[in-house]
Amino acid sequence: MTNTDRVNRKGIGAGALSALFAILLIMFALTPSALAQNPNVRPPAGAVENVVPGAPDGSNVRRPGGGISQDVIDPTKSMGGVFDTDMWKKVREGKSGLVTIPDPLAGQLVQSEGETWRNLRNGPLSTYGAWLLLGILGVISLYFLLRGRIRIEGGRTGRVIPRFSLTERVVHWFTAGLWLLLAITGLIILFGRYVLPPLVGPDVFAAIASASLQGHNLLGPLFVFATVLLFFTFIRGNFFQLVDLKWLLKGGGFFGGHASSHRYNFGEKTWFWWAAFAGIALGASGFVMLFPDWVDGNRTYLQIANIVHGVVAIGFIAFGIGHIYIATLGMEGALEGMTKGTVDENWAKEHHDLWYEKHKNEATTDRTVAEAKAALGQV
Ligand code: HEM
Repeated sequence: MTNTDRVNRKGIGAGALSALFAILLIMFALTPSALAQNPNVRPPAGAVENVVPGAPDGSNVRRPGGGISQDVIDPTKSMGGVFDTDMWKKVREGKSGLVTIPDPLAGQLVQSEGETWRNLRNGPLSTYGAWLLLGILGVISLYFLLRGRIRIEGGRTGRVIPRFSLTERVVHWFTAGLWLLLAITGLIILFGRYVLPPLVGPDVFAAIASASLQGHNLLGPLFVFATVLLFFTFIRGNFFQLVDLKWLLKGGGFFGGHASSHRYNFGEKTWFWWAAFAGIALGASGFVMLFPDWVDGNRTYLQIANIVHGVVAIGFIAFGIGHIYIATLGMEGALEGMTKGTVDENWAKEHHDLWYEKHKNEATTDRTVAEAKAALGQV
């Protein structure tokens, strides 16, 4: 079962039951034998409008303008072999009729956009999404094979500079941890059905998929909260400046040469703003799917939300793979800033020279002091 299938369980599940109920009612009404057994069956008050008796074919079915709600079936007359093409055409076009049960959405027997949504999600979204993610992994692997790890060229000095406060690190890892869990569970929800059953069997897959969905729904709102924290914690230093354009034109120094940067470079700033945008888009679309009542259970909105969620999530994961690569395997000396709170002096000089110029007096061989200063926010 898909995320939206389940997410929509509240909205669409109730709607589906009501629709089924409505179909059964209509079928029952159309069954002459049923009526013969109980001649007292009458349509409920308000369920039938514009009754104009005496249709030429004797069935009393009215077709012109006004949609299904005005199509009338007189239960006392047999339909015989009449198939109301016009009515079913309107049903297929998504026309809504009147129902007397509390769920008005059940008046729409067929919501045709559902098919478009299903084809989009299981077609281009899944296919191009998978190619994009595999492509990113491929490009990064190729870059790593050709270029190798970016080392601290001047070697470690043994002197360190405070870079990230304890608050910044806690907020970062809180967000990153949630992001990882959401990315993994999200990928299982989207692609799991194609990959996991042959590996683990249908029963284990069902358990994994169900746990993923529950976890994803639970952690999603927490991630929105974490993103807000991340935004306000890291906004300092993340506004674009002219030097970022120069950094970009030099390819960030990834292909040789040196590209100047303040506390954060162009790539990091873009990641920051992308994370903020993605957080909002994923949060908004996620909440619509979690709480369909917000959009009155409108299926079209739910389907749009699902596609937006998928597209943004795949973009977020693709960018995130790049961020994680550079922060760990791709570059020597970057990760310790986010773990210990300090970075080596030469790393600072080589990757954030303009920031280093302002902080070089803080370089010290006393790691304990530097880490304490970093923890206290003297960064
Ligand atoms: C899960 C693996 C992750 C690792 C290993 C990682 C590692 C790092 C490291 C080492 C830095 C410091 C870079 C520097 O000193 O300039 C950093 C910065 C940052 N990370 Fe991550 N990170 C991860 C995931 C995330 C995620 C998922 C987000 C956002 C949702 C994120 C947002 C940030 C931000 C905002 C910064 C500050 C730099 C900037 O503003 O771009 N990180 N990360």
